[in-house]
Amino acid sequence: VAALEAEIAAYLGVRHAVGVASGTDALIIALRAAGVGAGDEVIVPAYSFFATAGAVLSVGAEPVFVDIDAQTYCMDTSQIEGKITPKTRALVPVHLYGHAAQMDRILAIGAAHGLRVIEDNAQAFGATFEGRKTGSLGEAGCLSFFPSKNLGGYGDGGMVVTDDGELAQRARMLRTHGWQRKYYPETLGYNSRLDELQAAILRVKLKYVDGWNERRRALAQEYTRRLGEAGITTPVEMPGCRHVYHLYVARCERRAQVQAALKEAGIASEVYYPQPLHHSAPCQHLLARTGSLPQSERASRQTLALPLDPGMTTGQIEVVVSVLQRGGLV
Ligand SMILES: Cc1ncc(COP(=O)(O)O)c(C=O)c1O
Repeated sequence: VAALEAEIAAYLGVRHAVGVASGTDALIIALRAAGVGAGDEVIVPAYSFFATAGAVLSVGAEPVFVDIDAQTYCMDTSQIEGKITPKTRALVPVHLYGHAAQMDRILAIGAAHGLRVIEDNAQAFGATFEGRKTGSLGEAGCLSFFPSKNLGGYGDGGMVVTDDGELAQRARMLRTHGWQRKYYPETLGYNSRLDELQAAILRVKLKYVDGWNERRRALAQEYTRRLGEAGITTPVEMPGCRHVYHLYVARCERRAQVQAALKEAGIASEVYYPQPLHHSAPCQHLLARTGSLPQSERASRQTLALPLDPGMTTGQIEVVVSVLQRGGLV
């Protein structure tokens, strides 16, 4: 674990890395280590995996949702300042699907308002924003090593990365029952160790991750070139960003038909995510305050991930696209 922590810190260009049991725990521990707790508000995008909001609720704070940008599916930064109140403590941008959130704006807003910026980098290991690795830009970055991730183990795992020595020390304490001196907890922590076996596997896979990300990019380009823009909207890569295509997510007006045609041909596809976070049951009590977030709601009706894995061939991409062409869907 210590060797993996050192290697990931070097890869991302940060001083400290703290292995934990999952990406969800990385978010919970990073929030607590950054001093976020009961009575605080944390601004998060309304379209993400549930853990982004769940972690905020778990530490006793309140998620405040902002809508997403229609093209990148990341936080719409023009909406952040309107949501800041005296209770706001942190911003949690998500680099969704492998594309960086607009970190220059997010960091500027964080600095102007004295807010901690904690990046949810579960889906974007190896992505960059203006040449810098996502996860290394805010006060802390949270990684997931869930098997399907760009850097995935053979089971759960996660990591908190940061340049802040005190934050790292608090994270280390929280992952082992809140103690620094064994058996003498100073605060209530967790049992959230990264397994040594997972770390061993991840150390090997780390050597290949750049090559796999390149392969993901090439396959994504192949999809985009073949799909065109008829009936389906292909993902974008904004200037200054390096997308690592954790998922290749298209936007489809006729999503159910596209999914049915693929299923009929024996091809898997998946909706990430069918429900925006502000509509989830654990966030119902916040709905009146949140109101409607139209881009998140529209994305939940239209997004569809097509098969993408570094092990795929361009021939397989061609098969997926030809099924959609035959069905008159693209
Ligand atoms: C955006 C995002 N945040 C957080 C997580 C949580 O990571 P984990 O599944 O390792 O707990 C995930 C993983 O699914 C994710 O995609």
